[in-house]
Amino acid sequence: MSSTVGIEEPRQQETPVILLKARETSAQRLMMAYALTGLFFMLLPGTFLGVWNLTSISGRHGNAISASWIQAHGHAQIFGWIGTFILGIGFYSVPKMTSQTVQPTVRGWIAWLLWTSGVLLRWAAGFYHLYWRVLLPLSALLELCAFLIFLRSVRSHRPVDLKSSGGRKPVWIISVLIGTAGFGMGLLMNLFAAAYVSVTATGPAFPTGFESRFLTLLAYAFIVPTIWGFSARWLPVFLGLKAVNETVLRSALLFLLIAAGLGICAAYLDHANGWVGASRHSLTVGFISTMVFAVGQRVLPAFAGMRVLYGPRLMLTCLLLLNVGCALRVSSEILAYEGYWLPAWNALPWSAICELAGVTLFAANLLLTFKQPPAHEIRTLSAA
Ligand code: HEM
Repeated sequence: MSSTVGIEEPRQQETPVILLKARETSAQRLMMAYALTGLFFMLLPGTFLGVWNLTSISGRHGNAISASWIQAHGHAQIFGWIGTFILGIGFYSVPKMTSQTVQPTVRGWIAWLLWTSGVLLRWAAGFYHLYWRVLLPLSALLELCAFLIFLRSVRSHRPVDLKSSGGRKPVWIISVLIGTAGFGMGLLMNLFAAAYVSVTATGPAFPTGFESRFLTLLAYAFIVPTIWGFSARWLPVFLGLKAVNETVLRSALLFLLIAAGLGICAAYLDHANGWVGASRHSLTVGFISTMVFAVGQRVLPAFAGMRVLYGPRLMLTCLLLLNVGCALRVSSEILAYEGYWLPAWNALPWSAICELAGVTLFAANLLLTFKQPPAHEIRTLSAA
């Protein structure tokens, strides 16, 4: 059976080995479906629309583009990319990490169908304004249902390593639990806001004041604690193998500090969304995306049947492009949007191109990795 780094073999003695093998293979397939779906949302509805938005804003020297397009981009990145990755990794790894069992994947596939339809419909409502009064609440309901199925699947597992942590829950589990609660709260707020907007508003965008509070909740109650939890569990397993990971992860922590600092400045200095936008992208691109690029390219190939990452150099290149693009974006966004130094408008499209190149290489590296056979099959082939 293809096993996974840091995870002991399932202990259900009564389940025949052949059934466990089949379950393991279908769990890996489910995880890859979530990963590929997340990559799709990151690239097309997320990043391409983000680059398009930024190019239009730079061209007009101001924030005069459709709020629903900006929100469609944000939703595709936060829920379509990060949310889908988290659900996929959770479905695959939580049962193993807590009770060392391999689960049937039916619930995972139903959740995938509901989740993907929900996020796609939301994007269509925001981008095309198609039947948005119906699609907006419907998409939020589908997303919430998918999350509830996820919650039901992972809730039935009790941690087995309580003894090793003196009878208390390990910190990584507490962090993931906080992140899961934040995820659920975010989806509930999303449903209430979608229902409210569909009845009272004239277009599919959430009101600005609500949207900025909603994004703060998603960032600090959902994404940051979840990334910390998964990293606390997996970094000790994966760090040390490649020194470069540690270096790049430090830059993610630096961007987290920058995001917090800029967020504080924004409260006092923001007039034209420059400080708020810079703080948001330090967090989403500089911290979250760097963590996902760094940890994801180590963890996902292992979860997908112990595959070897296609290109370690590609991994370094995409991380460099992402971070250079992000540093350029964050600095020029404040200077340009706030009117401190107008030539900074010219740098913004370049920052978008750099980030776009980074995310495209990240997606290509994972796709090429999934296309390769698992490492044990390569070894068997070369031994034969
Ligand atoms: C190539 C990379 C990206 C580009 C060019 C880009 C561009 C933009 C632009 C132009 C905006 C409008 C606000 C502003 O002017 O700052 C925006 C908002 C936003 N972006 Fe990005 N972005 C990128 C990557 C990301 C990533 C990776 C994430 C999350 C993981 C993200 C999450 C968001 C969110 C949450 C908003 C706010 C949406 C709202 O107001 O509802 N972006 N982005």
